[in-house]
Amino acid sequence: MIFPKFEVKKTTSYGRLGTILTAHGKISTPSFFFCSTKATIKGVDTWIIEKLNTPVLLANTYHLMLHPGADVVADAGGVGSFMGWNGPTYTDSGGYQIFSLGYGCVSQEIKGSPRSKRYLKISEAGAEFLSYRDGSKWCLTPELSIHVQQALGADCIFTLDECTPYHISYEHTRASMEQSHRWAQRSLTAFLKEDSVYKKTHQGLYGISQGGIYPELRRVSVDFLNSMPFFGHGIGGSLGKTSVEMREVLDMALEKLCSDRPIHLLGIGKIEDIFDGIAKGIDTFDCVIPTRLGRHGGALIRPNYWSDAKEDYHSRSSINLLKSCFKNDHRPIDELCSCPTCLRYTRAYLHHLIKSKEITAGSALTIHNIFFMNTMMEEIRRGIDLNIMPEVRSKWLGR
Ligand code: GUN
Ligand code: ZN
Repeated sequence: MIFPKFEVKKTTSYGRLGTILTAHGKISTPSFFFCSTKATIKGVDTWIIEKLNTPVLLANTYHLMLHPGADVVADAGGVGSFMGWNGPTYTDSGGYQIFSLGYGCVSQEIKGSPRSKRYLKISEAGAEFLSYRDGSKWCLTPELSIHVQQALGADCIFTLDECTPYHISYEHTRASMEQSHRWAQRSLTAFLKEDSVYKKTHQGLYGISQGGIYPELRRVSVDFLNSMPFFGHGIGGSLGKTSVEMREVLDMALEKLCSDRPIHLLGIGKIEDIFDGIAKGIDTFDCVIPTRLGRHGGALIRPNYWSDAKEDYHSRSSINLLKSCFKNDHRPIDELCSCPTCLRYTRAYLHHLIKSKEITAGSALTIHNIFFMNTMMEEIRRGIDLNIMPEVRSKWLGR
């Protein structure tokens, strides 16, 4: 059998059910991927992540290329083996890191950005940057990104692209998108090249659509992706500032996208956005929110606990256990949650750990958040299957 393989099992107005079969197991979709950027979910052992029914880990080309280096990971048998993870893996191309290094768009530096002093030059060839580790000079080209990702050996990989932020003009977004398309073409050519050292791995390549918030550009990008033999499609770049804008951009981006390929929404997100994305036909998501939130004292909660989060500026769907209101709160984070953290620890204990700067706190909260997301995604798949999505939505999002 040739991996990966995508099958759609059911399409409804609340979303579609499918499977992505990889050489390392089956991913039931819709699915949420956790970020293991440097080949770890910070603070949580791989064996625990496995016990929490985690479907996929997403690592990053940019970070692993700089350390420990693609060859080390290849010698370990690929990124999954390297981190002791038996399940499916994805890697992102490094495109997003180009953006988050503080550079905006083709030939346009964001003035005043505190990070803009870092050396980063984007040209037709690729992205030139200085390593955050030792200052050495690198040029991440589409070919190098594919070479590294083939060495890292994840089940699915992404083309190198440039992620344009929100405030970029139409003209710059267009130029950037066109460059991402040329990079996608070069990525695909490199991917299909017969003489790749790592050709034996069973990998699927995703192309990424860009075009920011501009309907016309999103359409051009989708037409371009459809015309090329990618295994799957990623939706990247700016999706607007608000959830409303995101829904509009998704409508444009999904209008004509090939429905026989898995569609991944890059860098999203919030629970509400996940429900909306699924209803529009997105199959998979990734985001640092659940794990980053956990490390900073945040626990995801269901609507029946939203009143506990009333003062939380971050989001009504999480509580910040650093707050003194939890000092003497001897309930678990969520009485109905059966994660190892909720079965053992109280809010008061977690509050104490955070206040005492004990690293156990970040791990315990990350474990709860991973379990929360995995349980929610499982119920969403069941909800689509049994046509009970309105109930599932109100259980996790309220009315
Ligand atoms: N992660 C979030 N957004 C993006 C994007 O536009 N491109 C890539 N490669 N990764 C992302
Ligand atoms: Zn829990």
